[in-house]
Amino acid sequence: TGFVTYDPGFVNTAACSSEITYIDGDAGILRYRGYPIEQLAANSSFLEVSYLLIYGELPTAQQLAEFDEWIRRHSLLHEEMRRFFDGFPRDAHPMAVLSSAVSAISTFYQDSLDPFDREHVEISTVRLMAKVPTIASYAYKKSIGQAMLYPDNSLGYVDNFLRMTFGVPAEPYEVDPVVARVLDMLFVLHADHEQNCSTSTVRLVGSSQANLFASVSAGVNALFGPLHGGANQAVLEMLDEIRVSGGDVPGFVRRVKNKEPGVKLMGFGHRVYKNYDPRAAIVKKAAQDVLARMNKPDPLLDLAMQLEEIALADDYFVSRRLYPNVDFYTGLIYKAMGFPTKMFTVLFALGRLPGWIAQWREMISDPETKIGRPRQVYTGAAERDYVPVEKR
Ligand code: CMC
Repeated sequence: TGFVTYDPGFVNTAACSSEITYIDGDAGILRYRGYPIEQLAANSSFLEVSYLLIYGELPTAQQLAEFDEWIRRHSLLHEEMRRFFDGFPRDAHPMAVLSSAVSAISTFYQDSLDPFDREHVEISTVRLMAKVPTIASYAYKKSIGQAMLYPDNSLGYVDNFLRMTFGVPAEPYEVDPVVARVLDMLFVLHADHEQNCSTSTVRLVGSSQANLFASVSAGVNALFGPLHGGANQAVLEMLDEIRVSGGDVPGFVRRVKNKEPGVKLMGFGHRVYKNYDPRAAIVKKAAQDVLARMNKPDPLLDLAMQLEEIALADDYFVSRRLYPNVDFYTGLIYKAMGFPTKMFTVLFALGRLPGWIAQWREMISDPETKIGRPRQVYTGAAERDYVPVEKR
């Protein structure tokens, strides 16, 4: 107790050991359970990667089929839970709706008093994976005043989400296979990132033995902020602001370098990557391909590429080792797919879900886990005597 290390932002403090994700920030390397992110993005699927993260190994064909089937069977929301959405204001941010609804799931499934009970953890894992896409699409439907669609369990994970999001009851919905494949790949890229702000939140909340839904709901809220998952929305808003004010990219970069209050190059910089974020490299290429293939050229893509080029040649960014992160190009793809800006961070949350679950499960089965309880350096008043209110 006598000796306390002062480390604001936990820049140098490891709070756990983990076998899930490896990052070498200087070399720009990211691996899930040992597998390079580039190989997973090119060859794997989101459900396969979710299985890998949660259970530790790539599934056999049968294990994957069972996992998929189990998730499909739990995609419905409780009917009473559907009514929750009526109570939110129409312009509610879907991230706030998502975190509230994830928290509310725990009110419907109180099968065990012990949140760490094995069976309870297994079924909670599947329920969460299954219901979050349904909730996410309902948050969107609510915001545009359209009917919420029930899940169609003949469809795969991403296809089902796309149909619930963009489909309407009056017409059959055809999933565009290019959109589905790219969205699946983006979910893979977001699936875990070791002890980032939201994942650390999930672990910290869970360390008090709060249940999985409560812990993940807290993680969603942590992701909401613009320095974390909210950056993908902030990037699009920044690009649009540059476009509206005449496309003056060098002028915007000057404002960033002058450290004008509130002006940052959103989608740039990372606590751990001091080199190109390997996810950003994959997303940049996907953005160029998808926009060309969908025949949806976007002037914001040109602005983004100009911004990157200017920043990477500028001493301010070079000396601070600031590179594009995963959020820099994703929004352009989501926009081309038809998602409104407010949904971008929800898509990040959908992708990050298996990582949160895997990290929570690792935390509860680690014998070294203790309740999270950082220390502080007290800088307040020394002891003083109470003064009655009439004498103040
Ligand atoms: N634009 C301009 N300057 C920046 C930026 C940026 N995006 N990021 C860092 N800097 C500067 C910062 O001002 C500081 O300069 P100085 O040494 O002169 O004070 C220096 O670079 C070091 O930055 P820091 O704030 O100490 O770095 P951090 O590790 O605490 O913050 C970060 C990391 C990601 C919060 C930060 O880079 C940032 O705010 N980026 C913009 C938001 C963003 O894109 N977030 C998404 C992160 S990746 C995915 C995710 O987690 O969601």
